[in-house]
Amino acid sequence: MILISQPSPEDVHILQHLNHEVFLDNQKYDDDLVMGWALSKAGERYFSRLLSGKGNVCFIAYDGQIPVGYIACSPKKVSYRKSRYLEIDNMGVVPAYRSKGIGTKLVSRVKQWAKQHHYQKLFVNSYFHNSKAIAFYRRNGFAEIDLGLEMGV
Ligand SMILES: CC(C)(COP(=O)(O)OP(=O)(O)OC[C@H]1O[C@@H](n2cnc3c(N)ncnc32)[C@H](O)[C@@H]1OP(=O)(O)O)[C@@H](O)C(=O)NCCC(=O)NCCS
Repeated sequence: MILISQPSPEDVHILQHLNHEVFLDNQKYDDDLVMGWALSKAGERYFSRLLSGKGNVCFIAYDGQIPVGYIACSPKKVSYRKSRYLEIDNMGVVPAYRSKGIGTKLVSRVKQWAKQHHYQKLFVNSYFHNSKAIAFYRRNGFAEIDLGLEMGV
């Protein structure tokens, strides 16, 4: 059975390893990606900060003792829009556990948490070509709102 729980600050390494495993194949969407970032000092600082409170929230999905997925969120400041936003900074499920409803469970848990904490909207960014993630978010109630563009200079 899959259980979803909120990590404590000591669980930072679990999040680092989950992020590393989940995003291993993301270089195909972003050739500028720093591979190994999650396991680096910068990754450790990022996840430690996420776990230090300040309105951030994470959940980890466990199959027994095995961490198999996670979702990490923080408040998104958009003063030019009316709603209070919580942003899904990153989330994922390890490959062997995908398509079993775990991602959906993680989003549902965050949605519940966001409502309890008086947020009105969830926001997430996805790589433009990550069609599986985009289909997953749409199925979970998200709809496109903007499009990020970049260029070399
Ligand atoms: C996107 C991602 C998080 C989805 O997680 P997931 O656990 O596979 O998601 P779900 O299982 O809830 O839903 C996905 C699929 O399972 C199906 N599904 C949902 N509940 C199910 C259940 N109880 N049993 C079987 N299948 C189910 C959905 O219809 C969907 O179908 P598909 O895989 O055939 O398209 C996962 O693919 C992932 O980690 N990708 C890599 C990292 C990434 O891209 N993250 C998002 C960008 S930040």
